[in-house]
Formats: sequence, C-alpha cells, structure tokens
Amino acid sequence: MTSTASPETLSTRRATRAASERLRRRRLFAVGAVLALLVGVLWVSALLGGARETTAVAPPAGPALAQSLPAPQFTTAAAAPSICDDPAVAAAVAAGDDEAVVVAAGGGTVFREAVVAGAAPCVSLSDPARRWVVVNKQRPLDPIEYEPQNLVDVKGLTTFNAGILRQDAAEALQAMAAAIEQADVGEIGQLSGYRSYGTQVTTYQENVARGGQAEADVSSARPGFSEHQLGITMDLMPCSNGCGTLDDFGASPEGQWVAENSWQFGFIVRYEEGYTPITGYEAEPWHLRYLGPELARAYHAGGWHTLEEFFGLPAAPDYAG
Ligand code: DAL
Ligand code: ZN
Repeated sequence: MTSTASPETLSTRRATRAASERLRRRRLFAVGAVLALLVGVLWVSALLGGARETTAVAPPAGPALAQSLPAPQFTTAAAAPSICDDPAVAAAVAAGDDEAVVVAAGGGTVFREAVVAGAAPCVSLSDPARRWVVVNKQRPLDPIEYEPQNLVDVKGLTTFNAGILRQDAAEALQAMAAAIEQADVGEIGQLSGYRSYGTQVTTYQENVARGGQAEADVSSARPGFSEHQLGITMDLMPCSNGCGTLDDFGASPEGQWVAENSWQFGFIVRYEEGYTPITGYEAEPWHLRYLGPELARAYHAGGWHTLEEFFGLPAAPDYAG
C-alpha cells in the first residue's frame, strides 16, 4: 500500500526539517562563537603573561621608561627625626638661648646623639657664639678674628694675666671657685681667660721663641685656632698657700677636685692625658672649657675625653697646612 501524505503533512514535515536545520546551524554558530571567545581570551592572557614575565626577568631601563614607571620603594630604617622640628628647640635657637636648646632637645645626651646622627641641622658646631662650638687644629674660628659679646671680669679669684670671660662662663667659674673654698679643698686663681686674635699672635710667638715651633704646636694654639678666643675658656692655678704654676695644677687638691667636679658647673677639662692624637695638644689639666650644664653633664656621664669624640668629629692632631 502506497502511503500517501496529505499536502498538509508534507508541508509540516518540510517545516519541521527546516526548523531542525536552523537549530543545528544556531548550535554550530554558538559553539563557534564560544571557541572563538576562548581562543581570544587565551591569546590576550598569553600576551599579558609574557609582558609580566619579561618585566620580571629583565627590567627595562632607560630614561623614558624609567619615568613612566613608579619609583621603586625600598624598606629602610627610618631617618632620625630632626630635633630642629621641635618648636621649642627652634624657638630657643632663634632666641640664642643655648642651654634652653639642649634642654628642649631632651638633654645633653639626646642633643649629642642628634648632632652625631645628622639630625640637628639648626646646630652648627662652627658657630663661635654657641656653647657647642668645636675649635681645634682642623677647625679655626670663623671668622678668624672673631670677638665674643658680653665679656666681663671674673670676680672672686686671684687674677694674673687676663681674668675676662663671657658672662655665662664667668658666672659659672665664680660659682665653682666658691664651691672649692666651701668644700675646704683650697683656692683657685685664674691665669688667662679671653685672648683676642692679636693676643694669641703674641702668645704663640713667645712659645715658638721659647722652645721652637714643634714644641709650641703641642702646647699653644696658632692665632685663630685657640679656644681662648671664644671667651669661654680659662687656665687655672692652684692658690691655697700662695699660688703655684700651671704645671702644679693637675696634681694639686684643687686640680683633682676640678677634674672630678667641674662638670657640675658646666666645664670640662679640654685636653686630657693620653688624647694628644685626637686633640693635637699635650695634657693641660688647667685648661677649663665651658660647655654649659646640660652638655657638660652628658660629657661626664658618657665618659667622654675629647670634644671631637663627643660630637663624632675627626681627630685633629695637626693643622691642614
Ligand atoms: N694652650 C691651648 C692649646 C691654647 O693655646 O689654646
Ligand atoms: Zn688654656
């Protein structure tokens, strides 16, 4: 029997086949599109990965590229904060109140550490008007013929050549002289305090004439290189039973008391035995240098023996020229 399909049935089958064909094509298209998308994603990813790998293995150099890249960040120890950022320190510096500067910084030891660490840009060790100035054979006064302000006579001590100091140092020396007498140790006299540039010319020439230049240079500063020109240094004599000489001072009761206690009045013995390779001078137990109470306390507490070491400066055994 021959099956016959009604036109409606044929038409329906044709329509069904056509619909199936369209469905198949859509699936093929969808699969193709997904594949194309995947290939695209993989390609872009490979490109980016390659770029990253290239950067990591061989960092590109060159000014143009370097400018377009962010600056590298390294982990380092934080720089010490400047004591000069403290408003109290800055105000005391501006007012010229040296003792207040050191106190505001946190005391002599903190101040010293800041200077040594380079964290005290408002503190100049070359300023001849400041208590922390360091003068030695490598560090002449600046200006070379500097003259201090506020020079006064030091009262209450037997005086020989020059009993003159800057006011702050004079008051401290008077207090120390009184303390020595009260402690029944003896009595000190003053031989030579402030010496001008011109006076130092004469003093140095006399020393050269007496013993030759080599000997003079380990006991007398050349003009422009002496702490005496600062007005904060005094040479002391022992004067209990009539005055002795400079050379007698170190072994005298007064000299020993001064070596142990002068820091309490803001002084240090500047040239100690055994430190000639650093200071450039033989021991002078009679040469007292004013630093102010805070710095002298830190110097004593830290067991320091030279200002050069205290402030982290190079040794100064000789003159530059
Ligand atoms: N006697 C010391 C070194 C001076 O002349 O300053
Ligand atoms: Zn001296």
